[in-house]
Amino acid sequence: MDEIIWATPLYEFLRQCNSTSLDRTVLDCGAGSHGDRPPPLLLFYQQGYVTYGIEIAEDGLANAHEFCIENDKPLNILRGDMRRIPFADRVFGFVYSYNAIFFMTKADIALSMREIERVLKTGGICFVNFLSVDDPDRRPFRGNGFAARLLGSKHFSRHRNDEADVYFKNFEILRKEKRLVDKLYEGKRIKQAYIDYIARKY
Ligand SMILES: C[S@@+](CC[C@H](N)C(=O)[O-])C[C@H]1O[C@@H](n2cnc3c(N)ncnc32)[C@H](O)[C@@H]1O
Repeated sequence: MDEIIWATPLYEFLRQCNSTSLDRTVLDCGAGSHGDRPPPLLLFYQQGYVTYGIEIAEDGLANAHEFCIENDKPLNILRGDMRRIPFADRVFGFVYSYNAIFFMTKADIALSMREIERVLKTGGICFVNFLSVDDPDRRPFRGNGFAARLLGSKHFSRHRNDEADVYFKNFEILRKEKRLVDKLYEGKRIKQAYIDYIARKY
């Protein structure tokens, strides 16, 4: 039986991808795995997609590779930076970035969104989730953590309700959803707030 992954908003993205006639090739930006979770690309692999991922941090990449080898799942996750996606223009029908883009500064988010647009085919679909200004986690990043070291970020970047619309000027927004999460995580009650977009490139 297929494994159910925790990244549930990607199921709606998958549903939208499946409803097109584009080649089933997908790119994940920020594709590493953490803890004992498999890389989210597994969801697409299980559905018959050819998968590619890029991941900037050594540990997230190493965990993902370990998963792929141990489970014999060739997810094709490479070291790479979504600010300079190492693929040619218009090669992917589907691109997503889940829980990853908001580790960067807003200038780098804008750059990465242009990169996502560049590698998407005309008519291709992307999913990106942004952190909302309503997210209560205001802690600064650790100085030796990957975000400070590799991305030059001091804290999560947050967006107001319509602020991220600007990245989608060359897209039709198919779905935009603000998610307020209240959940038990590692034994603690936490709250999170995201703004998810699914959009089709004109
Ligand atoms: C919270 S983890 C989420 C990983 C995975 N998407 C998931 O949902 O399990 C965020 C990941 O995004 C990666 N990331 C952040 N900025 C990146 C960038 N510019 N290029 C590639 N990966 C990046 C981080 O290294 C980290 O592994």
